Amino acid sequence: MTSKNSLLDPTPFTLGLQGVRVLMVGGNWAAVEFLLRQGALVRVVDSQPDAGTLALAAEGRLRLDRRGFDEADLDGVQLCVTAPGLAQAAAEARGVMVGALPAASRRTGRASLVGAGPGAADLLTVRAVEVIRDADVVMFDKLIGSEVLALIQPGAQRIDVGKRCGRHAMAQSAINALIVRHAQAGRHVVRLKGGDPFVFGRGGEELESLRAAGVPTEVVPGITAALATAARLGIPLTHRGASRSLHLITAHGSDDRLPEHDWTALARAGGTLAVYMGVRTLPLLAARLLAAGMAPDTPAIAVENATLSNERRMPGTLAGIADAVAAAGLEGPTLVLIGAVVALADLAADQDSAEEHLAA
Ligand SMILES: C[S@@+](CC[C@H](N)C(=O)[O-])C[C@H]1O[C@@H](n2cnc3c(N)ncnc32)[C@H](O)[C@@H]1O
Repeated sequence: MTSKNSLLDPTPFTLGLQGVRVLMVGGNWAAVEFLLRQGALVRVVDSQPDAGTLALAAEGRLRLDRRGFDEADLDGVQLCVTAPGLAQAAAEARGVMVGALPAASRRTGRASLVGAGPGAADLLTVRAVEVIRDADVVMFDKLIGSEVLALIQPGAQRIDVGKRCGRHAMAQSAINALIVRHAQAGRHVVRLKGGDPFVFGRGGEELESLRAAGVPTEVVPGITAALATAARLGIPLTHRGASRSLHLITAHGSDDRLPEHDWTALARAGGTLAVYMGVRTLPLLAARLLAAGMAPDTPAIAVENATLSNERRMPGTLAGIADAVAAAGLEGPTLVLIGAVVALADLAADQDSAEEHLAA
C-alpha cells in the first residue's frame, strides 16, 4: 500500500487514543492505520474489507469481523468511527463518541482492465505487473496462469470468474456489475484477462459499464495470442511481398457456430489470418476459405497453449489443417495462423529455446 492511496496522510495531528476501544464500521485502511498509530484498540466490521485492512488483520494488529454492522458491536466501545448511516445513529443513541468519516473520505475506487498476455509471466508488460501488485481485488479468467497470479498481493481478494469443470463461468453482466460494485466501495479492482483485453476479450463491454457508472478506468494492453504465437515461431505476420495485412478473426459466434465472415474478401486479401477460438469449427472455416478461392496448399499452423510449457504445434496446409488438429486432439486454447508467411516458421529452433527457457 502506498501513501498516495491514503486520504488521511500526511497526518496533521495526533489523538491520545492509547488503549481506547474503537469500533470502525467499514475498513478504510488509511483511517485504521491512523487509529492504530494513536494507540487505539481497533475492531473493524466490514463485509468487504479492503486489502490494507486485511493485511493489518493478518498481522494481528486489529480484530476484523467480515460481515455487516450489528448494534451489539457497540458493546464496550468508546469510539465508533463510521460513515453516516445506521452505525452512527446507533452509536449516538448509546452515547458512544462518533468519529464521522464522510462518505467521500473513503478512497476513490478505480478499475484496471489488464491484458495478461498469452500465459508466460515474463510476457506481461511492466505496467501490468505494477497494476496487479497495487490491486485490492483481482478478478481473473481461467486462462490466467499461476505465475501471473503469484504477483497478486497476499491481502488482495481473488475472484475466479472463469469456467471450471462442472461449473459455468460467471455471466458477463454479473462480472460487469461486480467490477463496478467493488470499485464503488473504494477498491482498486483489476480485471485480469488473457492476451489483450480488447481482442476477443469482452473488455469493451466492461469498459462501457464502468464508464456508465463513472468509475475511473485504465486499460493496460497485453500481448494478444496472435502476436505471441507468431513471435514464438518466427513468423512475421506481415512481410514485404508475402503478406500486406493481418486479419484477427473469431471462429466462435454467439450461438456457438462459425460466424459469417466475408470469406471472399478474406481469401482475396492475400494477408495473414489469425483465427481465435477455432478448434471446433476449423473444418467448416477451412471449407469456407477453400470455396472462396484460397489455395489448398496455403501454409497453416495450429498452436495450442502458445508460450506455455505444454505448447503443441500442428503445422499443415489449409486443406489438411482441420484433420491434423482433430487427430492431435487439441483441447487447450489454440490459435491458427493461415497464410504464405506461415511457411517461414522455424519450428525446431524455437522449440529448443523454449525448452531451455523452461529448464532455466
Ligand atoms: C476468448 S479468446 C481471448 C483472446 C485474448 N483476449 C487475446 O488477446 O489473446 C480465447 C482464444 O484466444 C486464443 N489464445 C489465448 N491464449 C492462447 C495461447 N496461449 N495459445 C494459443 N491460443 C491462445 C485461443 O484461440 C483461445 O481460444
